[in-house]
Amino acid sequence: MIEIRNLYKAFNGKKILNGLNLTVRRGETKVIIGRSGVGKSVLLKNIVGLIRPDAGSIKVNGVEVTNLEEREYNKIRMEIGLVFQGGALFDSMNVGENVAFVLNEFMDLDKKTVDDRVADALALVGLKDVQDLMPSQLSGGMRKRVSLARVLCMEPQIILYDEPTSEVDPITAAALNNLIIEMRDKLKVTSIVVTHDMNMAYKVADSIAMFYHGQVIADGSVDEIRNSKHPVVYQFIHGEAHGPITEDESLVFGHIIQKK
Ligand SMILES: Nc1ncnc2c1ncn2[C@@H]1O[C@H](COP(=O)(O)OP(=O)(O)O)[C@@H](O)[C@H]1O
Ligand SMILES: [Mg+2]
Repeated sequence: MIEIRNLYKAFNGKKILNGLNLTVRRGETKVIIGRSGVGKSVLLKNIVGLIRPDAGSIKVNGVEVTNLEEREYNKIRMEIGLVFQGGALFDSMNVGENVAFVLNEFMDLDKKTVDDRVADALALVGLKDVQDLMPSQLSGGMRKRVSLARVLCMEPQIILYDEPTSEVDPITAAALNNLIIEMRDKLKVTSIVVTHDMNMAYKVADSIAMFYHGQVIADGSVDEIRNSKHPVVYQFIHGEAHGPITEDESLVFGHIIQKK
């Protein structure tokens, strides 16, 4: 469904993606782990064309997208839902308007179809009768659900989640995990989930890929990664301060590890 070959991206001479390869099969949930700043969000933005790569290939559903013009790319984008970290709701619009935004702006649908899709998408994420609420009236967990509903109402084939459980409590995180699993099982979507949360990774993943120095250094089933003897993988998933990941880049799991 998504095939990435030899992808390169640098910013101001700093190599971020450095010949990265990644394959996501149709219907699978691929979790991406790796330290802050390693280029996980950059990869997701490359897939949706918010950032264009310096070199390499990205195929989405068999279509090479790296050289697509904006108008052609928009057709691909309609198939890909991107769930941003903060939720990114419009504060001046109510929940219904937020969820309907893309349908109203970019799709030629009648009002009843839009209303039905919005209600269906909200029901899928476990919310009912919230259309008239404003984002400021929602809890953090509800905001996440609404942002997921906004993506779901486009009926995408692919959903990309960027750190969906950052900033939410453990109970909300567990509910989000269940939702991600449901999206795969009920809707057969193909997903990439970027996360620092290893509980989440183990729960939702069909396979896990670890980024390091601009490449995928390990990619395997949950058990393969959990039991990996690769020193970098081992250090990361066990959150250890000492190992091949050096101290000057020792920002692991979002915590700065003090130098000795
Ligand atoms: N648009 C941009 N312009 C310049 N640098 C960027 C841009 N986007 C990301 N970067 C840099 O690329 C690196 C990787 O960022 P990112 O993909 O956000 O990391 P993460 O793995 O934490 O998601 C960071 O050093 C970041 O500062
Ligand atoms: Mg990121």
